[in-house]
Amino acid sequence: QNDVYTAGIHGRKPVIPTDFAELERRAKAKMSARAWAYIAGGAGEGRTMAANRAALDEWAIVPRVLRDVSQRSTEIELFGQTLAAPVLFAPVGAGALAHPDADVHIGKAAAELGVPYIFSNQGCAPMEDVAAAMEAVTPGAPRWFQLYWSTDDRLVDSLIARAEKMGAAALAVTLDTTMLGWRPQDLNLGSLPFARGEGINQYTSDPSFWEIVAERLHDAADERPEISLGAIKTLFSIARNVPGDLRNNLTAPEPRAAVQTFLDIYSRPSLNWDDIASLREKTSLPIVLKGVLHPDDARQAVDLGVDGIIVSNHGGRQVDGSISSTDALVDIADAVAGKTKILADSGFYTGADVFKALALGADAVCIGRPHMYGLALNGADGARDAVANIIAELDLTLGLTGHTDVASLDRSALKRLSRA
Ligand code: FNR
Repeated sequence: QNDVYTAGIHGRKPVIPTDFAELERRAKAKMSARAWAYIAGGAGEGRTMAANRAALDEWAIVPRVLRDVSQRSTEIELFGQTLAAPVLFAPVGAGALAHPDADVHIGKAAAELGVPYIFSNQGCAPMEDVAAAMEAVTPGAPRWFQLYWSTDDRLVDSLIARAEKMGAAALAVTLDTTMLGWRPQDLNLGSLPFARGEGINQYTSDPSFWEIVAERLHDAADERPEISLGAIKTLFSIARNVPGDLRNNLTAPEPRAAVQTFLDIYSRPSLNWDDIASLREKTSLPIVLKGVLHPDDARQAVDLGVDGIIVSNHGGRQVDGSISSTDALVDIADAVAGKTKILADSGFYTGADVFKALALGADAVCIGRPHMYGLALNGADGARDAVANIIAELDLTLGLTGHTDVASLDRSALKRLSRA
C-alpha cells in the first residue's frame, strides 16, 4: 500500500482505481459491449450477484485495539507453497475479450505478487506459454490448473498430464458449469465468446482435442447431423493451433454450429462422484473441487479425500437466485473446517471482504472480475494493481483490527447483524 499512499502524497492518481465501484465504471467505459456483457454479466436477473455482495454486509468487523500490530504478515502456506497473501487469481476463460493475450498478462501479474494464478481450461493461451511467462518473472511462481471435465476422457487425461508438466501445484475441477448458465446479457446480444475463438486455445493446443475432433469429423455426416462438416472446419478456422493436415479446405463460417461442436466436447453434464473418485488414479496433484455450495457436498468431498474445495457460485453466473458465497461459506466451514482446505470466491472485491471470508473460515479467497477489469484498463500492470490493492487493504484491515497475521482470524473478529 506504500506505493499508493506515496503517490497520493505527491498528488498522483493511481492508474487503477482503489475501489471496486470506480474500477468497474472505468472498465465498462473501456470495454466493448460484448466483452462487458460476458465478463460483468451474471445469470438470470442478477440476483445471485447481488446476494454475494449483500451477504457480506450482514457481517460487521469488530476491531480490537492496543495489540502491537507494527509487524504484520499476510503470508500463508497452501499445498506446500508459500503465498504472499491468501489470495488467488480465479480462473477466467475467454479473457481475450478484455485484452489480447490476457492469460500471459495475468500470469505475469500473479507472479509479480507471489500469489497463484489458476489457469482456466478456457484460457486464450496454451498453459505452457503462460507458465513460461510466469517463470520469466519469478522462477517457481505458483500456478494451478482448472479443469472442465470433457465428455472425452482422452482430453481429460491429456490436460492433466500437461498441467503436471507445466508445474501446476493443484488441480481445480469446476463442478458448477457442466452446462453454461442462463446469461441474458450475452444471449440478448446474440454473443457467446467461443463464437470468435476466445477461450478455446487450451483445447486447440492439445493433440487429443484434434484426435477427438477428427473422429467426429469422420462420423459427423451420418451419426451427428448437428455436428456438420462446416462447423468443424469453422472451429479449425478460428483456432490458432490447427494441425497442418487438417488446415486444408476451410469453408465459410458457421459460428453457431462450431460453438455447439466445442460445447459438446468441453464439459460433461453426466459428471458424478464416481468420476471424482477416479481422479485420484489420474493424478498425484492436490485435488480441489470448485463450485461447492451445499454442506453435504462438502462432507462428501471430504469423505473422498479431496484436498480442498472452493465455495463458489461462479461469480453469480450460473444459477440465478442461488445461495450467496458468504452464506454457503458459513455452513460449509461449520461442516468441514479443518478437514480440507476451504477457499471461497464470488463477490469478494475488497480487502475487507477477504478479511471477512477468512474470519468466517476460508483459508484463501479467489478474485475474479476485479483482476479482469484491471487487465482491461492496463494489461498486466492493471491486473496486478487491482489485486495488489485488495491485498494492501487486507493488510491494513488486519492491523487496524488488532491482528498481525491471518492465522489468528476467526469469527470472534465479526458480529453477525440480524437480518431484516
Ligand atoms: C469465470 N469463472 C470461471 N471459472 C472457471 O472455473 N473456469 C472458467 O473458465 C471461468 N471463466 C470465467 C469467465 C469470466 C469472465 C468470469 C467473470 C468468471 C468463474 C471464476 O473463476 C470465479 O468463480 C468468479 O469470477 C468469482 O466471482 P467474482 O470474483 O468475479 O465475483
